[in-house]
Amino acid sequence: HDNIKDIYTSPERYSGKQVIVCGWIKNNRVGKAFGFIDLNDGSCFRGIQVVLERESILNYDEISKQNIGAALVVSGKIELTPNMKQPFELKAETVHIEGASTPDFPLQNKRHTPEFLREQAYLRPRTNLFRAVFRVRSEAAFAIHQFFHDRGFVYVHTPLITGSDCEGAGEMFRVTTLDLENPPKTVGGQIDWKQDFFGKSTNLTVSGQLEGETFALAFGKIYTFGPTFRAENSNTTRHAAEFWMIEPEIAFADLNDNMNLAWDMIQYIIQYVLKHCPQEIEFFNQFVDRGLKERLCALAASDYEKITYTEAVLLLKSSNAAFQYPVEWGSDLQTEHERFLTEQIFKKPVFVVDYPKEIKSFYMRLNDDGKTVAAMDLLVPGVGEIIGGSQREERLDLLVERMKELSLEEKDYWWYLNLRRYGGTKHAGFGLGFERIIMYLTGVSNIRDVIPYPRTVKNAEF
Ligand code: 4AD
Ligand code: MG
Repeated sequence: HDNIKDIYTSPERYSGKQVIVCGWIKNNRVGKAFGFIDLNDGSCFRGIQVVLERESILNYDEISKQNIGAALVVSGKIELTPNMKQPFELKAETVHIEGASTPDFPLQNKRHTPEFLREQAYLRPRTNLFRAVFRVRSEAAFAIHQFFHDRGFVYVHTPLITGSDCEGAGEMFRVTTLDLENPPKTVGGQIDWKQDFFGKSTNLTVSGQLEGETFALAFGKIYTFGPTFRAENSNTTRHAAEFWMIEPEIAFADLNDNMNLAWDMIQYIIQYVLKHCPQEIEFFNQFVDRGLKERLCALAASDYEKITYTEAVLLLKSSNAAFQYPVEWGSDLQTEHERFLTEQIFKKPVFVVDYPKEIKSFYMRLNDDGKTVAAMDLLVPGVGEIIGGSQREERLDLLVERMKELSLEEKDYWWYLNLRRYGGTKHAGFGLGFERIIMYLTGVSNIRDVIPYPRTVKNAEF
């Protein structure tokens, strides 16, 4: 059969030609003598208008009764309609009802709220909003692979089940084969994890970085792109318990190299999506976020802004804005602070670098001031942090000292520490939250609406 997308690509070539289109009814307006059906096949954002005439369609009455959602196979001829809203229509000759849809089909031909559609997550890809979101998600994923592949990066699949806690925040989902309802024998009141499948306690990964570093010190440039899991008990519009992360890691590189790479990647993704999803972006610009297109185009053509954490704190303090959380050197920037920086002060994305070591992870490289680390967060308007990264501590003694301060056991990280013994070099990397950049690309304001089946606190229905 034919794809609606191909017909849009060159309508003239299809003019008067016989086609077969398979899709789902978006709207059915069939009257006594003739009628119209809007049919979507998913191949592109727009659907096709099918025109039916009673005298030429055998099962006309049956078709007129079909509900939204029904699956049809329509064969007929393409007729160009240059004076109408849609550039062509499909004059039906035969219509086969592949699968009828019952009258309780939950989606009507109108705008539903995102909240309602979350309860219909299994059907929402059939709506305009979600067809647009998930097309952009797919294209952006492809753009990311293309970007890194073109630059010689090796794609590494880091494990999802791991014994280490990369971020040291203890927000991990435990993986176990033990029957916790009939607990196995305990040792000193504690579960003996030696009896578990792996002979130790394991969890779902919060980041592939540590394993990624080992590959960067073999291939020079690598990236990961996969799911990560965090049991953060924060019910916000930008946190999910299961989200996808892209984590490049580059050897013989410092924080500036890291920032340049991150910015090139962001610009590449934006340009790619603007080029390959023009109808989707137009739709978001019209119905979700009026300034979207202008913002994306501006970003794709601009250099990045960078400030230090210390400068950011000074800027926020001197703004005299009424924040819910006070701004103090040494405490983490809250969402309201991040948004103030990007939305009120810079009015564009900004890298914040050199954070106090106390609020960052153990592996980040200590700066010469002894107080801050070579960290970088990329903050963007509307979303906040989309990238977190750093130059890594390559000096074994300093790394060991930092781990002691944080009570991290050397034996749990023996292989990570050995990397500093066997040909260690300065290296750096970052993590891009995939859902966060999809929010930025679409203007969609809730992370639950950019991932097919969101996993958030008390929510794993589908
Ligand atoms: O800043 P994070 O925690 O950094 C790391 O995990 C590093 N190991 C990355 C690295 O250097 N290789 O997370 C990176 C990004 C954040 O900036 C954010 O975009 C996203 O991951 N992220 C989340 N996205 C959705 N839901 C959550 N709960 C997220 N937590 C982090
Ligand atoms: Mg972070």
